Amino acid sequence: MEIKVIAGDITQIEADGIIVSAFEGVQQLDGAVADIDKALGGAIGSLISGGVLKGKSGEVSIIHTLGKLPARIVAVAGLGKLQDFNLDKVRGAAGESCRSLRKLNCKKIATILLGSGVGDIQAEDAAEAIAEGSLLGLYSFTHYKKPEYGDIAEILIVEKNKDKLLALERGIHKGRIMAEATSLARDMTNEPSNYMTPSRMADVAREIASKYNLTFNVFNSNDMETMGMGALLGVAKGSNEPPKLITLSYKGDENSEDTIGFIGKGITFDSGGISIKPSKDLDTMKGDMAGGAAIIAALDAIAQLKLKVNVTAVIPATENLPSGTALNLGDILKAMNGKTIEVLNTDAEGRLILVDALSYAVKQGLSPLVDVATLTGACWIALGTEYSGVFGNNQKLIDQLLGAANRCGEHLWQLPMPEEYKEQLKSQIADIKNLGDRYGGAITAALFLSEFVGDTPWAHIDIAGCEFSSKESGYTVKGATGVGVRTLVELVLSMA
Ligand code: BES
Ligand code: ZN
Ligand code: ZN
Repeated sequence: MEIKVIAGDITQIEADGIIVSAFEGVQQLDGAVADIDKALGGAIGSLISGGVLKGKSGEVSIIHTLGKLPARIVAVAGLGKLQDFNLDKVRGAAGESCRSLRKLNCKKIATILLGSGVGDIQAEDAAEAIAEGSLLGLYSFTHYKKPEYGDIAEILIVEKNKDKLLALERGIHKGRIMAEATSLARDMTNEPSNYMTPSRMADVAREIASKYNLTFNVFNSNDMETMGMGALLGVAKGSNEPPKLITLSYKGDENSEDTIGFIGKGITFDSGGISIKPSKDLDTMKGDMAGGAAIIAALDAIAQLKLKVNVTAVIPATENLPSGTALNLGDILKAMNGKTIEVLNTDAEGRLILVDALSYAVKQGLSPLVDVATLTGACWIALGTEYSGVFGNNQKLIDQLLGAANRCGEHLWQLPMPEEYKEQLKSQIADIKNLGDRYGGAITAALFLSEFVGDTPWAHIDIAGCEFSSKESGYTVKGATGVGVRTLVELVLSMA
């Protein structure tokens, strides 16, 4: 889909559908929406006075123009209450209204610069949000089934002031990169485990590397053996699918020795292993590699944006299956950093594979470290499907992540790492065990990871439950969300 900017008057644009907006509780229309209302003989105003058009966030009112405008349809997107307004409302309104117009067979859409000039919202940022929101809202996973509706071919952002066009183009450029990277993570996560194997995850990373000239490496089980990655190998040994440790490095700052490390959980299917999960909704465990996908996709965006930083992604990828060769309960594994781990639940496999990846990242001198993982059902229970948990040993890094998430419309909530809870991870016969008490499971998982990063500044994002959405809303569609990608890119943007 093309997204362009043109200078002009929205009432004169030849398009199938046009998008304008209204705030909740608005009485007096002004600007472009007033011009459209006038051309439609007051149709928008009467919908407002009749209480039909409320301007609530998520609402889209469709008006057929019946020849009163060059465009066939006008969509009025609700922006919610003025005092709650932010860029995320623009992304949501763009996604929601584009989907409505696609259902009505629109191929060419024109929109005003939603939200620009409201509060301190700049034109460039509004254009970015429109591009990002429309591309993400129109996303569908089409590998195995034709999409329900035809594609929208073109979106025009119409702006009266010619001087703003360059800034708008910059905004669209960034919005598209963010949305396409997020869509890549969505695609990877939506893929079933018989397609998105550890080897295929490596293929995706390899393709990105060759496209943007990044350094790519993939370690197989022999390499893992040599490096002493007993925890990752322990999880992998229940499956016939070869495990992979994937690394992808972007060097945007030749003058700096510092390299940020991103680590992503890449369990391509989590059956629980011998501690097998119930089969209800088990299909969603194909998404247990969403953290790994987010990190691969973030590097794609960072490379395209040519940010002046160095970043290395490390993705431990394997299946977690029960079999004659799988881990048994009580087995003891030795991680790369030499620590021994007693396995008391094979379903707590994420932390096992992550600690070898974290040890590897520490050994490579990567700093700071950020890991992203669908790690615990407990985090999902605690924070629901919209908020991911963030933990860490460095408040500055956590604050940077909270800020990044806030800017891009993802939600992070910091959870504590009380020293006292470490008691729960003590093993009688090994350095640590992989299971804590029933309560506070997201916290003990984070504390487990913390034992493998030493003094390196580190943050951990638990995205469990946020990797899929069960409903369509704003720029989110049913299925994989691509959570984490935009936060990571925003983080790097703030560091570059
Ligand atoms: N992959 C799961 C966590 C998960 C749950 C992700 C729901 C997405 C949705 C993880 O490997 C797991 O099974 N964790 C266990 C840990 C427990 C055994 C300590 C859990 O959360 O139940
Ligand atoms: Zn598990
Ligand atoms: Zn898992």
